[in-house]
Amino acid sequence: MPRIIIVSNRLPVTIDRKQGELIYYPSAGGLATGLSSLDQSFERLWIGWPGQVVENDTDRATIVRQFRRDGMIPVFLSQQLIEDFYEGFSNKTIWPHFHYFTQYTSYNDRYWEAYSEVNRMFADMVARVVAPDDMVWVHDYQLMLVPGMLRDRFPELSIGFFLHIPFPSYELFRTLPWREEILAGLLGADQLGFHTFGYMRHFLSSVYRITGVEHNFGKLIVQNRMVNVDVFPMGIDYEKYAFPDNQDVISEEVRFMQDYSKRMKLILSIDRLDYSKGIPERIRAYELFLRRHPQYHGKVSLFLVVVPSRSNVDQYQDLKVEIDTMVGRINGEFGTFYWTPLRYYYRSFPFHNLVALYQASHIALITPLRDGMNLVAKEYVASKQDGRLGVLILSEMAGAAHELTESLIINPHDANQFEQALVRAIEMPEEEQLRSLGDMQKKLRRYDVKHWANNFIRQQMDMKRFQQDRQTKLLSDSSRQTLLESYRASNSRLLLLDYDGTLVGFKNEPSEAYPDEELLEVLRTLKKQEGTMPVIVSGRDRYTLEAWFGDLEIDMVSEHGVWLWSDRKWKLNEGVIASWKPAVMPILENLVERTPGSFIEEKDFTLAWHYRRIDNELGANRVREIRDELIYLTANHNLQVLEGNKVVEIRNAGINKGKAATRWLYRKNWDFIMAIGDDHTDEDTFQALPEQAFSIKVGLMRSTAKYKVRSVEEARDLLSALSKSR
Ligand code: UDP
Ligand code: G6P
Repeated sequence: MPRIIIVSNRLPVTIDRKQGELIYYPSAGGLATGLSSLDQSFERLWIGWPGQVVENDTDRATIVRQFRRDGMIPVFLSQQLIEDFYEGFSNKTIWPHFHYFTQYTSYNDRYWEAYSEVNRMFADMVARVVAPDDMVWVHDYQLMLVPGMLRDRFPELSIGFFLHIPFPSYELFRTLPWREEILAGLLGADQLGFHTFGYMRHFLSSVYRITGVEHNFGKLIVQNRMVNVDVFPMGIDYEKYAFPDNQDVISEEVRFMQDYSKRMKLILSIDRLDYSKGIPERIRAYELFLRRHPQYHGKVSLFLVVVPSRSNVDQYQDLKVEIDTMVGRINGEFGTFYWTPLRYYYRSFPFHNLVALYQASHIALITPLRDGMNLVAKEYVASKQDGRLGVLILSEMAGAAHELTESLIINPHDANQFEQALVRAIEMPEEEQLRSLGDMQKKLRRYDVKHWANNFIRQQMDMKRFQQDRQTKLLSDSSRQTLLESYRASNSRLLLLDYDGTLVGFKNEPSEAYPDEELLEVLRTLKKQEGTMPVIVSGRDRYTLEAWFGDLEIDMVSEHGVWLWSDRKWKLNEGVIASWKPAVMPILENLVERTPGSFIEEKDFTLAWHYRRIDNELGANRVREIRDELIYLTANHNLQVLEGNKVVEIRNAGINKGKAATRWLYRKNWDFIMAIGDDHTDEDTFQALPEQAFSIKVGLMRSTAKYKVRSVEEARDLLSALSKSR
């Protein structure tokens, strides 16, 4: 196991000052509570903010010393940075925006500058302590630029990032003026984790639409580095909540509440004071329930625990006033001398009291309007051991709803559904309660927080190894040297050259990707070398190839092997027919009508549907559709459907570049053979080559080629070196 450096804004310990003395207490919030339960089996260092302004040097030194003992390194922030970075950009811009509260999003350049500055401070701190084999794991929305900043300084460092809050849809994300910088920061990581597939999908779609980088099953190539994006739903420390130790530390107040729960149905609600948690909506639904069901008056009570949070941010202060008012109003209207319908606590409860609350309450109301995961829901379920009963009413907007599917799932905006769920929960038979709890507990026990962290870390380590493997195929200076020497030393040399994506980059219009003078000159020089035979092996139609390269008198393959050009004439490969085209054409025409921006290219014996200019998701759907539609026709007409780079080609089965290449491969006993290409139609060529040949893939995707070069520029550079080496 490598050493893990955790980087998060909030450390698991927050400092405060009481009568001049520094005091230390556990931090609130899912990130800190969850991560502090991590497996101790690996060495760990945790970098973060201690939660308070500390100006005095002696205090700072004491804190550094104290934290160091527990493997923590504090990053101290000034009052101004707390206002602009923490309260500002983090909690007045990103937090509301990512939770779909755009009416609260603040667009302020000063906040952004402070955000960049603090992210830089965190990256600097990592740089001070990191060793080459460490794995850095950055957490959450406050530090989204850190991966990119670290990547600039440490190109080989293993960096992971986990977002604990939702990632919003592209339509929302795009409205942020700093969207490019945020994505660039995040994409500095080797691996990015999200709680749900929905957040991951939104992220990938934003990356594609804003940066143009497409993913393939969650893998992205960013500046020639592969990045893994995946779903890792965060779990809890199951045993800790299921079987808490030392129950005698429970307070008098909670003991009273335990007694109280024997007399009436106790409904529990616990959250940080946050507008994303839907607390007023919850109170309103409870009020509706009280109004509609007088038979339950005196028989139920709502325990509303609201944990103070971000109290310097205006919206949080306003929310506090709103909740205070609502609680007062409801208790005033419904309460009696003997019964308080709503008991309200504006404070946090230490662990043992919290678990006692979970254990004693009959119903938990966890109904955020938007929540990345929500660990309280999971903790509540875990605490129901030894036959304890309980019903979880959970918002469908919480990440946890994807896993806790046996709970009563509601839309928190729908007060009627909410009220019905309350009635159902109160009346739910015991067996049903036990069955749902048991099913959920099984999942929570298995996918606990250790599983979550180990899974993330293991996948990141795999990713690093995978990247290294890919790097090993990169044409190194010494292999390049060997190739050039072998070229120089041979008398007969065959060069099989793919065109698009290899000798020139892709353009929106295929006709725009014509060969430039520099490329033509390189090909001319190669052709002139005695003993060298360059062959263009392309999927292009023969008319275009002839127009572009006819004068060069080099051999060519068009339509992936349909036509072969030698001695200034085209020869048709055997067994190709075009009689199937009228059957396939209407299907493609219909597709074009429904997919603006796509078009058909008709070649002599091939039909190609190009979709470079359309949205990638729509493209992927259409490709699936076309495959399904063509399945019957292709079998009857002996056709093949091939996917190239943003193109689907339909042609006769048995035609491919590899077969075509054999015409030249066996023409003589070549001393030197090299094939170069970028997409999977070129894999057929690579596989047709004899053992001693040099096969080179352009790009870092998987390939059977012996070597890889990163780009068209590198491929051309190599060709140019060959042209100069004789
Ligand atoms: N929590 C706590 N004391 C309290 C209330 C909550 O320690 O009085 C903890 C709770 O156990 C949970 C975390 O705070 O682990 C809240 O995490 P959650 O994911 O539910 O919400 P977040 O605060 O991260 O939005
Ligand atoms: C959420 C965030 C965490 C944050 C926590 C508490 O769980 O995802 O990053 O630490 O809330 O908020 P605070 O502002 O007190 O750190």
